[in-house]
Amino acid sequence: MSAEPTPAEPVSVVVIGASGDLARKKIVPALFALYSQGFLPDSFRLFGFARSSFSHDQFRAALAQHLTCRYVPESDCAQKTRMFLERCFYCSGAYDSKDAFLDLFQLMQNQEPGSETNRMFYLATPPSVFTDAARALGNTGFVQCDAERPWSRLVVEKPFGRDRDSSDRLACELARVFSEEQTYRIDHYLGKEAVQNLMALRFANQVFEPVWNRNFIERVHIDWREDIGIEGRSGYYDRYGILRDVVQNHLLQVLALIAMDRPDGPGARLARQAKLDMLRRIPPPTLDAVRLGQYAAGSFQGRAHPGYRDEEGVPADSRTPTYAAVSLSLDHDRWRGVPFLITAGKALNRRATEVRIRFRPVSGALFDSKGDLPPNELILRIQPDEAIHLKVVNKQPGLTMKLVETNLDLKYHVAFADQIPDAYERLLLDVIQGEKSLFIHADALAVAWDIFTPVLHEIERQGIDPFPYPFGADTPEAGQGLGVRV
Ligand SMILES: NC(=O)c1ccc[n+]([C@@H]2O[C@H](COP(=O)([O-])OP(=O)(O)OC[C@H]3O[C@@H](n4cnc5c(N)ncnc54)[C@H](OP(=O)(O)O)[C@@H]3O)[C@@H](O)[C@H]2O)c1
Repeated sequence: MSAEPTPAEPVSVVVIGASGDLARKKIVPALFALYSQGFLPDSFRLFGFARSSFSHDQFRAALAQHLTCRYVPESDCAQKTRMFLERCFYCSGAYDSKDAFLDLFQLMQNQEPGSETNRMFYLATPPSVFTDAARALGNTGFVQCDAERPWSRLVVEKPFGRDRDSSDRLACELARVFSEEQTYRIDHYLGKEAVQNLMALRFANQVFEPVWNRNFIERVHIDWREDIGIEGRSGYYDRYGILRDVVQNHLLQVLALIAMDRPDGPGARLARQAKLDMLRRIPPPTLDAVRLGQYAAGSFQGRAHPGYRDEEGVPADSRTPTYAAVSLSLDHDRWRGVPFLITAGKALNRRATEVRIRFRPVSGALFDSKGDLPPNELILRIQPDEAIHLKVVNKQPGLTMKLVETNLDLKYHVAFADQIPDAYERLLLDVIQGEKSLFIHADALAVAWDIFTPVLHEIERQGIDPFPYPFGADTPEAGQGLGVRV
């Protein structure tokens, strides 16, 4: 985010599915954060659309529950909140109804200060609604069908299909109304501060790039874990599972940023190209490079938790994995022979996303140590409590040459006084500014599905049963065959 807000052109944000969790807890609070820092113009308007029936005031009251004044002094909070909510409006209707969307456009024309207002359409509904809503929007004839001003842009949330075919079909349907140029596919991981820092860390420092290869790095491990179950989202989760929910998208994107070559120059297009080139070097994993688990009932933090199959709405014989370990090898000289391990699990012992880059060990012969010394390890903590740790070997102070492993630590909350923006703040501002580097382009999406579709289909074809692991586990047994050690 640039240090100073830049005056923006008139913009309206239309949230389709505005009665839902994502809209109320993420999108609207992020817009409020941008508004209260001066990143949105005075003419900004927010329009909510969904089937639920709300008056404008009821809608505002529902939004107000999740607005926090992170960037506003306490004394200005009430006034800023009121000014923001006055700019919020609501229209109810069916997602496949052209007439309902015509009502929405009528409301927009009445409330927007001028006729030259840019419009962002945010699809915040379950994916089953995406096509209907985009088609009905297009049928109104009010969507700008090119990238000219005033612009119309579409923001769409994962999941982008369940495999390569369904993703292509969805892309085709959306493309009838919004061109690729107008489409912003959000992967909110790319908006996270510590993920954006990967490029800076690698390419703005001299020390990393010379050792960022197979000669020095033994393996890379990307670990994602949550200490909660599916929290009532069985309808979505049971259809998708962990590989589609976080591995094929968020964690693969992180892997691409770790592995990619230096872009050929500055700018979003070249960075995207460098990532895409690396994704193309990842052969699809075979079934023996994948381990699957599913959480069973367990006692965690002093409380009994149900297993996945006991959750409401989950079939008693569901084979949907809630844990996966995947070992990928990259077909690239820089990385030949270096395993990239991705592990992801719900209902584990803590919430964290970390990248662990383990360097090759150094012989201890010089120090009379038997065997190798403990290897250096660079740990990039993406969430929560963003941090960078480097494990190094040091001499223990004293009269003997005793070596010990110690940590060089950089904790964001200690090193940086600034607030760390939520990923949605960064990404929504980028949509308004037309900056696409942190969004998933159609070709990267297709390649990501090409990597995972064969194994996803094979898992389903063979009816693979995931290994049970108890709620709150540290390292599920399922991962062990792939050398998972956290
Ligand atoms: N929540 C998150 O943090 C999060 C994070 C990443 C991605 N996402 C994705 O973002 C999208 C929205 O997430 P969400 O959590 O806000 O979803 P949600 O609450 O389930 O759905 C949003 C709204 O869509 C409508 N809706 C729900 N089910 C529907 C159905 N079967 N048919 C038609 N309309 C339906 C409901 O509004 P009405 O009944 O009023 O029409 C609901 O309030 C989903 O694609 C989700 O996968 C969410």
